Amino acid sequence: MTSNPLGGKFNLPGVAELERGQGDLPRLAVNTEACQAHMYLHGAHVTHWQPTGQRPVLWVSRKSWFEDGKPIRGGVPVCFPWFGSSEHMPDAPKHGLARLMPWNLESVQQHGEEVRVAMSLRSNDRTRKWWPREFEIRHLATFGDRLTMRLEVRNRGADPFVFGEALHSYFFVEDVRQVSVHGLEGLEYLDAAGGQAAMRREPEEPLKVVEEADRLYCGTQATCVIESPGMGRRIVIDKSGSNSTVVWNPWVEKAQAMPDFGDKEWPQMMCVETANAAEDRVTLGPGATHAMEAAIRLEPYV
Ligand code: BG6
Repeated sequence: MTSNPLGGKFNLPGVAELERGQGDLPRLAVNTEACQAHMYLHGAHVTHWQPTGQRPVLWVSRKSWFEDGKPIRGGVPVCFPWFGSSEHMPDAPKHGLARLMPWNLESVQQHGEEVRVAMSLRSNDRTRKWWPREFEIRHLATFGDRLTMRLEVRNRGADPFVFGEALHSYFFVEDVRQVSVHGLEGLEYLDAAGGQAAMRREPEEPLKVVEEADRLYCGTQATCVIESPGMGRRIVIDKSGSNSTVVWNPWVEKAQAMPDFGDKEWPQMMCVETANAAEDRVTLGPGATHAMEAAIRLEPYV
């Protein structure tokens, strides 16, 4: 058997191996009885998770960049230390810095049918340029018949800091116009679609997306369920340590305006994001750690 020069001590032969992915970026490829998955070191980015016998759960654009300094379009970008635009620096990269750079692979372990991966990012010259704070963020991903993603943020500096974050999950659906999202009924949201932000309230019924959607719901810990009749499944997103949920689909014109998004791809994706944003941003004291987790599983649609 030849050893994988990329993987070294992290390889679990036949189960989890480091390989060159798109753009020649290193990624961990997981292959177990329970699922197949990919996680890039770039951004600690999960791009693929497919429980055995199911179609892929995550969506990635065919036009995505796979390049240092640019975010991957699809899968689960990690947004940190801010969500959306930086409050104080309008020129700073959108959705923070974590999705733009390589993380450190800390461990890969097998527990029964699950593979647990830990990646981390510490403050460095590239992060300090935009955000002069000392931090460590760890992404602990568990790949099995469920996908669990946990972000742990630690303040390594001497002063408190405030941060926003998201597991900006892009889900693969047959047609966004045919699905409904449960869990957001009756909630107030910041509607950023069309460029003019306004507060609105959802009716007491599951959300159907029929136009561009860019909605931030604050103060909600609710589980969300994407009901996808055409694929015969429900995607259940449980969360903890998260008070915000974001729903996004760019629809026709915004999709056309994005260079890393195919013009006709928007019907196949739906973002339901586990986040702490806007008024739910987290204040973290020196030495303290905050954890946010999203746990994703499939159920049959009956
Ligand atoms: C969503 C935001 O979370 O991400 C949208 O609410 C944004 O406003 C979208 O357009 C995609 O962002 P980006 O930076 O990956 O193009």
